[in-house]
Amino acid sequence: MIVNQKDEVVEKNNLITLADYEKASYGKMSKELSDYVKSGAQDEITLRRNRQALEDIIVNPRIFRDVDCRDLSTTVLGDKIDIPIMLTPAGGQLHMHPDGELASARASHGHGTVYSTPTNSGYSLEKIADETTGPKWFQINQHSREIQEHFVKRAKQAGYKAIILTADAPIPSRRESEIRNNFSIQNHLSWGSVEGYEEFLLSDPHLREYIYGISEEDEPVSAGTGGKSMTWDDIEWFRGLTDLPVIVKGVRNIEDAKRCADVGFDGITVSNHGARHMDGTNSSIGVLAEIAPAVNDRIEVFFDSGIRRGMDVAKALCLGARAVLIGRPIFWGLCVDGEQGVFDVLDILKTELDLAIAYLGVNKVGDLNRSYVTI
Ligand SMILES: Cc1cc2nc3c(=O)[nH]c(=O)nc-3n(C[C@H](O)[C@H](O)[C@H](O)COP(=O)(O)O)c2cc1C
Repeated sequence: MIVNQKDEVVEKNNLITLADYEKASYGKMSKELSDYVKSGAQDEITLRRNRQALEDIIVNPRIFRDVDCRDLSTTVLGDKIDIPIMLTPAGGQLHMHPDGELASARASHGHGTVYSTPTNSGYSLEKIADETTGPKWFQINQHSREIQEHFVKRAKQAGYKAIILTADAPIPSRRESEIRNNFSIQNHLSWGSVEGYEEFLLSDPHLREYIYGISEEDEPVSAGTGGKSMTWDDIEWFRGLTDLPVIVKGVRNIEDAKRCADVGFDGITVSNHGARHMDGTNSSIGVLAEIAPAVNDRIEVFFDSGIRRGMDVAKALCLGARAVLIGRPIFWGLCVDGEQGVFDVLDILKTELDLAIAYLGVNKVGDLNRSYVTI
């Protein structure tokens, strides 16, 4: 039983779709937090496009196929996961539930899949690694080289299995709802990974500004989300930082995708950041359809932005993604019921995906291909 802010009771057995979780969670959250989670950039054209384009894809089922032994597992970067759905890095989870990232990580491991810790996690990257089992990836932004090296080394030391380099946010976003609400998540994030390293990390003015926002005394210094924007000239250095696999998140162009493969990255995530930073781009799934066939024999291709149904997962896999990631639905599950809520959100997607592949006529998610969709 869930009680929302209007003291209305939501029975758990009425939460059977992600849309139900979305509605229940926004009923529980403050307006500032729900705007933080749900908003897209500017006129939200891309936000709507992400969903519309997924909805517009037509699926082509086949008959008289053996679908009795269905298998949703796949491999990512050489590791088996039980479902082709992972949790994307996303800051602010502590504000949905006191267990924050610990709850989300436990829920994803309950489903045998990957959890991605954002740099700006409420709990420290080490605590999340120590207190949860299962494969975890660590996400880093475009900070100075010293800061990136610091976090990448800590992530490796803590046992993370891959690094996600967020490429699509070279300068901070400007979310209009947050301006209207006079709200900044910076003032609310706990930044667990700074604890114990304050002297070094806060001495970097860019990172300090990213963490605390711009104070009245400070001149704005940041060129990016915590540092200098990266260029291809920095990439060889970054690739050489670690022997962990690196995934570039936020690829939206074939030439960029090819270049990521050329320079030795291990994966890309085709993503428009859930349309949170830039408006007017193509839908993420529209871009996936162009990019994946051009590179997925050379580099693992993942997908996010707009996944809300198991059939959406199937569509992305048909178009060449190896696995997808979910963002906002983590927040909905966490807010509604902590670890159990995130587990249930994944469970709904898993059940729907199982149904989707059975009706499409395949036993394994690996057998989905372009012939099952018309775009
Ligand atoms: C509240 C929120 C915070 C986010 N924070 C980060 C972040 O810290 N780093 C990052 O690379 N992406 C971040 N993202 C983007 C997600 O990783 C992902 O690209 C996006 O949410 C996928 O779209 P979806 O929400 O439609 O599933 C965030 C997304 C949301 C909704």
